[in-house]
Amino acid sequence: MNAKEQGECGDASRGQFNSRLGFVLAAAGSAVGLGNLWRFPYLTYKYGGAGADAGGAGTFVIVYLACIALVCLPLILAEILVGKRGRRNPVGSFNAIRPGTRWNIVGYLGIATGFLILSYYAVVAGWSIEYTYKSLVNEFAGFETAIPDEEAGQALAAEFISSHPGTDDAVALESARTAAGSPEAFNTRLLAKKAELHPQHLFSQFVANPVKQVGYFLAFMLLTVILVLGGVAGGIERGNKVMMPLLLLMLIVLAIRVLTLEGGGRIIGYLFKPSLSTLSWDLVLAAMGQAFFSLSVGMGALLTYGSYLGPKDRIETASAAIPAIDASVALLASIVVCGAIISFGLAMSGSGTGNVFTAIPVIFQSIPGGRWLVVLFYLLVTLAALTSTISLLEVVASYMIDERKMKRTRAVLLSAAAISAVGVICALSFNLLSGYTLFGMTFFDMLDYICSNIALPVGGILIAIFVGWVMRHEEKREELVCMNPIIYRVWNVLLKFLAPAAILAVLIGQFVFRS
Ligand code: PHE
Repeated sequence: MNAKEQGECGDASRGQFNSRLGFVLAAAGSAVGLGNLWRFPYLTYKYGGAGADAGGAGTFVIVYLACIALVCLPLILAEILVGKRGRRNPVGSFNAIRPGTRWNIVGYLGIATGFLILSYYAVVAGWSIEYTYKSLVNEFAGFETAIPDEEAGQALAAEFISSHPGTDDAVALESARTAAGSPEAFNTRLLAKKAELHPQHLFSQFVANPVKQVGYFLAFMLLTVILVLGGVAGGIERGNKVMMPLLLLMLIVLAIRVLTLEGGGRIIGYLFKPSLSTLSWDLVLAAMGQAFFSLSVGMGALLTYGSYLGPKDRIETASAAIPAIDASVALLASIVVCGAIISFGLAMSGSGTGNVFTAIPVIFQSIPGGRWLVVLFYLLVTLAALTSTISLLEVVASYMIDERKMKRTRAVLLSAAAISAVGVICALSFNLLSGYTLFGMTFFDMLDYICSNIALPVGGILIAIFVGWVMRHEEKREELVCMNPIIYRVWNVLLKFLAPAAILAVLIGQFVFRS
């Protein structure tokens, strides 16, 4: 990926542009993934709820965007800078820049975080393979017979009771039938309910199956291993160059589709109209954690990719492009998933972790061409997840290669095996181990919470302090030769003061004000 020769600040030739594009795409590929397509829509929905006007989703989105602009954006540049200057894995880079100090702890923390994220991330990524398959063989059809009338009727009765509190259980179904107006209208509602329940059943049956959970998880790890074995230029860069543009295109098509649904436009107000009354520490922490997670920042993934840049490669534009691409994909994904949920009035069950898997099939049932669009959608989720898992595995493997002097093959296989051992527990936490919880969280939930909401932000604070306070201006300037002096100053101030203070405030606030 190294650009061989490049003018100081001038235009790069076509060949060099290609290599820089390769880096931007790989870094954006790391950032864009399940964080955008699965986690962001489910969190916006968690805070927004079904009430399209409550403002919770808007508040979440605004706080998330603010975290990206003020905290994560400066951090991305800082993290890539450390990798580019250190030219090694996270531990090695800190060692190279400040030899003999304990700053390499930041690198170790990052590698541990990457290890843990991959172990649960690949579980959900495995779901996307199964869902690509399910959509290909059209398993989402056939809901007319798969769900018995009684069950759909019960669901309608329960809905009636929740919108008409005080209704007697015994008459709720009858009342729902009367309220529908005509027997035909009631039958239509019954059918719609079946179409909605079917994917929920498929999803809960799927996650309850330990063999499938472990199997798909391991399959996804294998895919990741194959790409990472190819190395930086061969596997990672080439894969991303194809997958990233494809993914963006597919998502835009889907978003247009949802926005042109009846009532689809309401999603814009849902996602962007905040309401102060919904602001809470919990929401702010979740939004910040999501910003870190989604941008892959705080654990050395971007640092590692940065280490494959040439000394003269410019990193400012790339650092700005990554959050721009990432936030756009997240917002598009929420338009698709939440837009579909609210314009269809779907009732989502549970915590929403299955939203992408339960809502999407329902939406596509009623869209012309949906039979095939849904295949595209899950393929997109799979590809996006893959461009992220390769960056996670690369962090752990690059450490083994540089610091433990292993051959790439051995390093990749060993890391993947260790990660898989932990991942199996995550995969089983949806079924065999679902009863084992701590603070109401399963092993999977716990890892996700610790990594996103604690480990990544803490890594972020340390990187901000390192680059903001420990590295000298001359060192930083050497890596940012062409950066406008004013922007450089603003960046430095954000990094020195705002980023660490804001992250710390949110982390501490969470414990002090936890309700
Ligand atoms: N950013 C990735 C996503 O949104 C997840 C990830 C986190 C990847 C941290 C690498 C490092 O899916």
